[in-house]
Amino acid sequence: MCGIVGHVARSCSTRPLEVVMDGLSRLEYRGYDSAGVALTHGEVDDGSELTVVKAVGKLTNLRAALAETPTAPSRSAIGHTRWATHGQPTLVNAHPHVSMDHRLALVHNGIIENADVLRAELRAEGYRFVSETDTEVVVHLLDRAFHDADLPAWEGELAGLTGPDSDRGRALVAAMLAITPHLQGTYTLLALSEEVPGLIVAARRSSPLVIGVGEGENFLGSDALAFASRTTDAVEVGQDQVVGVTAEGIVVLDKEGAVLEPHHFSVDFARERATKEGWSTFMEKEIHEQPRAVAATIADRLDATGHLALDELRIPESILRGADKMIIVACGTASYAGLVARYAIEHWCRIPVEVELAHEFRYRDPVVNEKTLVVAISQSGETMDTIMAIRHAREQGARVIAIVNTPGSTISRESDAVLLTHAGPEIAVASTKAFTAQIAATYVLGLYLAQVRGNKYADEVEDYMEKLERVPEAIQWVLDRAESVRQVARSMADIDSMIYLGRHVGYPVALEGALKLKELCYIHAEGFAAGELKHGPIALIDEGQPVMIIVPTPRRPELHNKVVSNIQEVRARGARTLVVAEEGDTSVDEYAEIVFRVPRTPTLYMPLLTVVPLQIFACELAATMGHDVDQPRNLAKSVTVE
Ligand code: AGP
Repeated sequence: MCGIVGHVARSCSTRPLEVVMDGLSRLEYRGYDSAGVALTHGEVDDGSELTVVKAVGKLTNLRAALAETPTAPSRSAIGHTRWATHGQPTLVNAHPHVSMDHRLALVHNGIIENADVLRAELRAEGYRFVSETDTEVVVHLLDRAFHDADLPAWEGELAGLTGPDSDRGRALVAAMLAITPHLQGTYTLLALSEEVPGLIVAARRSSPLVIGVGEGENFLGSDALAFASRTTDAVEVGQDQVVGVTAEGIVVLDKEGAVLEPHHFSVDFARERATKEGWSTFMEKEIHEQPRAVAATIADRLDATGHLALDELRIPESILRGADKMIIVACGTASYAGLVARYAIEHWCRIPVEVELAHEFRYRDPVVNEKTLVVAISQSGETMDTIMAIRHAREQGARVIAIVNTPGSTISRESDAVLLTHAGPEIAVASTKAFTAQIAATYVLGLYLAQVRGNKYADEVEDYMEKLERVPEAIQWVLDRAESVRQVARSMADIDSMIYLGRHVGYPVALEGALKLKELCYIHAEGFAAGELKHGPIALIDEGQPVMIIVPTPRRPELHNKVVSNIQEVRARGARTLVVAEEGDTSVDEYAEIVFRVPRTPTLYMPLLTVVPLQIFACELAATMGHDVDQPRNLAKSVTVE
């Protein structure tokens, strides 16, 4: 939550502002309650200045504010797009926050848990607060340390800074090192001061920060996406590290101020394609990218002998063989991918699989030990609840396998092994292609484990993989019929609730369909296991209640026939029945008002198809209702606070 961008150059120009605004537009998915920038202008010798421009609401409002009051060329800039935690989404609460003398500015992602105590202490010393945010505490603390004559300056070098610039730069680094041990909670902090315009000082704990290495300029971002088109060379910032970034260099420090060797990694070029490419929304584009996302995720996994070879899974086979339990931890849509995975992994590997919401996991004192395999599923790789769950699991001795879409993300760095979903950047807040890619990745993992643990022979694994490789074509088949789903959605703009029913792997699909409707259309929607219907939810059915039912293949009559009975049961009580059913399954025709078809596919792979009409339905209904499909209200793409 909250997107942070920074840029520092050798001399003043319009580039820092351009880079930061472009970066913010790429990170706006992280929050859009307000946005702001702080810029330093001029040189220390002939009078430097700090400008801060902020606006409530989406980035377009900040653009308008900047157009109305153009800023002077700048040497460095920091920017922030906010998802409000402490304080309403108002102008005073918008970042950057500034010191009382308006010479130091700071942006923050995370939550300072001891802000109240620190605020009281600063108030007693005469510091005045204008906002309700926890962040304002940090800017005052930093300013106090920066101007503390007794605080020894950090002793190292900041490339390109000389004379008084260098002295003030080292003082600012020392100030950041001095305050961070007093902050409890999570943070990424970026600060700049007009006293040293060629420097950005940053720090992180449990919130993301990466640095992009340029030539004669450097970049900072919550996500490499912020600067992906400008450099491929990035530097990781680890837990509790502090960095000083000038145009000429980057120093990465541990919390004691010792200089560390920077760890470089390459920024994925595919991330550059984060544009709508002719679609009117990112969500539509991403729904239609699913055949490619699934195909890329499962591609090149089999070796010449038909064995699955997962180079990324660097956990000794003996440990995988000895595991006696798997726990999948994830949140939201990713947890539903985990629920789907459970059916396949238990069936193929004969290992018990629990699926747990990451935020519930560690608080219930779960039974986890070195024989437990924990699988964390996350698109962003930055979901704080999931990060805390994997930390807890590793402390108990479990091995953690991450299924993530974002290389270099915190979850991927903190896990023992990583299986990447190759869905490409997912920008729309509502997850679509990441979900199907996550399911595909769990299938690859499940088949790999089945092979390693001796539950499946190589030819059986090859057979499952071959069938999985046909799924992208089947998803395309569903997408080719998207217009009929859109038409139905357009005709239902008056609904005020929706019930989703599914059985077996259709149950998590029902949960996901309901989540898509809630987050996009702001109407009450709920997914139920179809078998649960008569245990209570059927009381919700009255005349005209829309019910979406995901019907299993007729080739599994023990599942199929019961769900067809459920359609009849709700229909008999006046429900409007919308049904997702396999091509050729005529048994539903009599009871379904509307049928969305999916092609015949193995039962375990059906969620990869049946979810698609539900995504299209929610997307089109939201657009018909006039909602912002890509940036639904109150949400942010990555939930980086607990
Ligand atoms: C789904 O549409 C949401 N965006 C949300 O439930 C999301 O899946 C969840 O917050 C987990 O995010 P992650 O995959 O980035 O960890």
